[in-house]
Amino acid sequence: MRVTVFSTHLFDRTSLQAANTVANHELIFCEHRLSEETVSAAAGSLAACLFANDTGSKALLTRLSSMGIRLIALRTAGFNHVDIETADQLGLTVLRVPAYSPYAVAEHAITLMLTLNRKVHRAFNRVREQNFSLDGLLGFDMHGRTVGIVGTGKIGSVVAKILLGFGCKILAHDCVINSELVQSGVNYVELEELYKNSDIITLHCPLTPETYHLIDRVALKRMRPGVMLINTGRGALIDAKAAILSLKSGQLGYLGLDVYEEEGDIFFRDLSEKVLEDDVFVRLQTFPNVLITAHQAFFTKDALKNIADTTIANLSDFEQGKINSDNLVTSKLLA
Ligand code: NAI
Repeated sequence: MRVTVFSTHLFDRTSLQAANTVANHELIFCEHRLSEETVSAAAGSLAACLFANDTGSKALLTRLSSMGIRLIALRTAGFNHVDIETADQLGLTVLRVPAYSPYAVAEHAITLMLTLNRKVHRAFNRVREQNFSLDGLLGFDMHGRTVGIVGTGKIGSVVAKILLGFGCKILAHDCVINSELVQSGVNYVELEELYKNSDIITLHCPLTPETYHLIDRVALKRMRPGVMLINTGRGALIDAKAAILSLKSGQLGYLGLDVYEEEGDIFFRDLSEKVLEDDVFVRLQTFPNVLITAHQAFFTKDALKNIADTTIANLSDFEQGKINSDNLVTSKLLA
């Protein structure tokens, strides 16, 4: 099957080609994001393969459909970037990679926590400059601290298990209660209680209309002074402008981000020669207690292999008319 792969990076090309040796689909690699300007790259293909910052808007899905695209193959678990209702109306099948490595993302969330706490990013630079002073690098024991986890699905539950190993107390908020976590000592509470009693809060719920700007000015005010906030979910879970105000007042003590609401114009690219136009992002970068990585939580060898293997399997299944229902995204999932 001929497939146009949007937002292709070197790592995608390598892993998809390795996974495609048997199925031998015709992969057309397009380095650009899916947009009005690039959508024509899908001409002649039966499937469009999209990554996290390829926006499948109503207009673009309609264009893809009119060009003969029948399948949207997502190389992601999240599907908030695609208008699923429009895809359903157009008869487009949407397949995703629901679980490629919850460990990759969970371990990165922990990396952000530990780095911010022990200020490893600052220590690294200091030691390279032969500044061996410890002033300003004081951290705290994770043991005994309370961590609030919003969303205890595949990733959030791995985060909980890692933190239980550290001796943290875990508060969780999710509409689905994981009984295995409860047996391990995780305490499910309402959001208000989680905000009020957590030293660290980490976000692992999907981005939906309900969770858009979940962390806003009001939510930040309800948290403990000096709280640490970690987001490896989706950027728009946090109102970044509200976070900046909270950082300036000292209410928000640490912020670790792997995702950012407007990341589509910034992440996955080398902009080192360019002037950044996003003043909110630039302001965030000025805080010593903010640590930003560019949507790399998923980025392990294991996860890349799983993404590529499942994506190629999704293409083959679709071609053979046998779809894995676990990977299928329809508007029923939004209900
Ligand atoms: P999952 O579907 O296994 O778990 C999500 C959990 O959030 C579910 O238990 C669900 O009940 C819960 N949830 C839904 N709405 C909620 C709400 N309003 N409040 C609290 N909990 C709520 O998904 P998984 O695999 O754990 O991924 C979580 C998110 O992580 C994805 O939606 C995606 O946005 C993000 N992600 C980020 C990556 C990165 O590289 N930074 C890579 C992969 C996923």
